[in-house]
Amino acid sequence: MYPDSNSSSQKMYDRALASLPGGNSRTTIFMKPYPIYAARGEGCRVWDIDGNVFIDCINNFTSQIHGHAHPALMAAVTAQLALGTAFGLPTESEVDLAELLVARLPSVDQVRFANSGTEAVMMALKAARAHTGRPKIAKCEGAYHGSYDYAEVSLDPTPQAWGRNTPVSIAYAKGTPDNVLADVVTIPFNDPEAAVSLIREHGRELACVLVDPMPNRAGLAPADRAYLEALRKVTREVGALLVFDEVITFRLGYRGAQGIWDIDPDLTALGKIIGGGFPVGAIGGHRDVMAVFDPRAGKPALPHGGTFSANPVTMRAGLAGMKLLDDAAFARLDAMGAAVRAGIDAAFRRHRVPGGTVGLGSLLKIHFADREIRDYRSAWLSEEETRRQTVFARALLNRGVLAAGNGLMALSTPMTDADIDAIIEAASGALGEVASTL
Ligand SMILES: Cc1ncc(COP(=O)(O)O)c(C=O)c1O
Repeated sequence: MYPDSNSSSQKMYDRALASLPGGNSRTTIFMKPYPIYAARGEGCRVWDIDGNVFIDCINNFTSQIHGHAHPALMAAVTAQLALGTAFGLPTESEVDLAELLVARLPSVDQVRFANSGTEAVMMALKAARAHTGRPKIAKCEGAYHGSYDYAEVSLDPTPQAWGRNTPVSIAYAKGTPDNVLADVVTIPFNDPEAAVSLIREHGRELACVLVDPMPNRAGLAPADRAYLEALRKVTREVGALLVFDEVITFRLGYRGAQGIWDIDPDLTALGKIIGGGFPVGAIGGHRDVMAVFDPRAGKPALPHGGTFSANPVTMRAGLAGMKLLDDAAFARLDAMGAAVRAGIDAAFRRHRVPGGTVGLGSLLKIHFADREIRDYRSAWLSEEETRRQTVFARALLNRGVLAAGNGLMALSTPMTDADIDAIIEAASGALGEVASTL
């Protein structure tokens, strides 16, 4: 049972605290009183260093769409290991993965690889500035786009800091320079009128509008089509670029979120699943915008390096993983996601706990809120809702299912119908535990 002060994970954490601030390298995976240390993973299961086994619905915050140690990915990676892992020369693997992404995403004529989603978003914003010659960017309140200063503005404003009607740009990290805040226009998600009016107000200075069509931290509510259409229209009107952050949503379908919503962004940031379990990021987009990276005529408008960008291990793993994601794989992921959402929603009703799931495809988020979740503010948890979420998370863990602390669950292709049933049963049991505390 978690927590157990005699566990190997607790001991490892005690050791880690000496050499790592807070015990690890990712704020997102910090967990009180201590995290569970992974020993190994196979398929959709993870074993911790105490020998406990879990069905993994975190999947490294959505990157592991094929779970762990998938044979096709292991074969691709081991073949590359024997050939060398990193060169100061380009390799064919980069061309192969770029061609696959260009073939899948109609808005993407060309691709540039990086090492993380953070870097991909950063380079997309810099590309938009280089292309338009304008300084400002607009982004949605509460939406997470990685750790670049501009991209993390207004990531977690508290209700005390909410503007009366429209969002305001607030620093996320201490030390954020004021000029960063001045160059970020924070727009509300899923409110086309307010967003359009803010974008028009700053129109002539705006390089781009950055949007994630289903932003996890802002609640995982899917964007209304009308919202994305309004952003597409107004960005063309003011001469700004539309940038989609598909670091997570590319796992929603063969052509990503842009295929589902049928929107043509100028630039797309990718990451997570395109690396087959290895660190990755990519920027893709229209040829005229991607030209900012092109050094053929001399120093490019936007120089971009990266010692490990497009490294062949990542490229080969990514290619193997992406090839497995055909229409049938996405149909199966969609069906599993729909089953888990329906099963957990039914359990909420059965146990008379207010709340339910949101999400699409292989992604879902559990909310303990008795209201429609549409954006960051509607997803904001009261103290009581936070308490219920904490009880649920602990109870789910002790029933052998891993989910992110904020209720995010990401499914993977190795999951069977029996695994899906087990996830629903565990969630139902955990909701029963929440019900007993009401
Ligand atoms: C939507 C979105 N964009 C960007 C990022 C940053 O990606 P990375 O963690 O690879 O830097 C994330 C990470 O979770 C994300 O969810």
